[in-house]
Amino acid sequence: MKFKNLRIFGGRAKPAEPDFSRLPQHIAIIMDGNGRWATARALPRTAGHRAGSENFRRIATLCNDIGIRYLTVYAFSTENWSRPKEEVDTIMSLFREYLTEACSELTKKNITLKIIGNTEPLSPDIRELIRETERLSLGNTGLHVNVCLNYGGRAEIVRAAQLLAERVKRGELEPEQIDVACFESCLYTAGIPDPDLIIRPSGELRSSNFLLWQSAYAEFYTTPVLWPDFGREDLFRAISDYQSRSRRFGGLEKR
Ligand code: FPP
Repeated sequence: MKFKNLRIFGGRAKPAEPDFSRLPQHIAIIMDGNGRWATARALPRTAGHRAGSENFRRIATLCNDIGIRYLTVYAFSTENWSRPKEEVDTIMSLFREYLTEACSELTKKNITLKIIGNTEPLSPDIRELIRETERLSLGNTGLHVNVCLNYGGRAEIVRAAQLLAERVKRGELEPEQIDVACFESCLYTAGIPDPDLIIRPSGELRSSNFLLWQSAYAEFYTTPVLWPDFGREDLFRAISDYQSRSRRFGGLEKR
């Protein structure tokens, strides 16, 4: 395997190397700690988001290289609009930059991009870039990158309930036909497998409205490392930790 004998350097202890033959299929990341990273360097918070956005590119490339199938990142929540305008504008500019670059880069890297969330309140140029990037990257067979943008787990569930209620009202569906699969088909993530591993850098122990439905049986991992500093060693440590766990999905350990 390409990464089997990879040597890892750095200040922190060398993590146990993950088993590349049984990687999690889907990793989700709450990219937290950008503000603290910047404050610790006497920089504006916006500099932290820029560093976080650069790190997102590095981690996505690494996930693609090692063979992860799905990477979902929490980039902007339905609640993040309450932040100062300058901060929101900077994050939007970072999306704009990323999407512009992604239009030409993703096909070279064989990556598919999907935006998850309500894109309606976004500016028309960003919405157009999203449409174009999603269209151009469709059919690539490497990593699927899902960027949660103006996303909230509760809003997603409410939206699914409304879509189903409309179908019932139109007479297309009976209430008793609504089961887990039917509900899932109305989520933004329809067709995407649930995350196996959810990583939250910066040491927080909250889900913050991220993938509420999809995280039912995800394994959570946190580290004090702030997102802009979260590197290859940290990802490998998270994957190794995940591989040491026993996933029972409510059942009993397989013997
Ligand atoms: C949380 O850290 C981070 C955000 C709300 C924004 C994340 C956005 C990016 C990484 C940039 C754009 C992404 C892409 C995909 C191009 P925080 O600001 O809440 O950190 P703090 O808790 O230390 O204040």
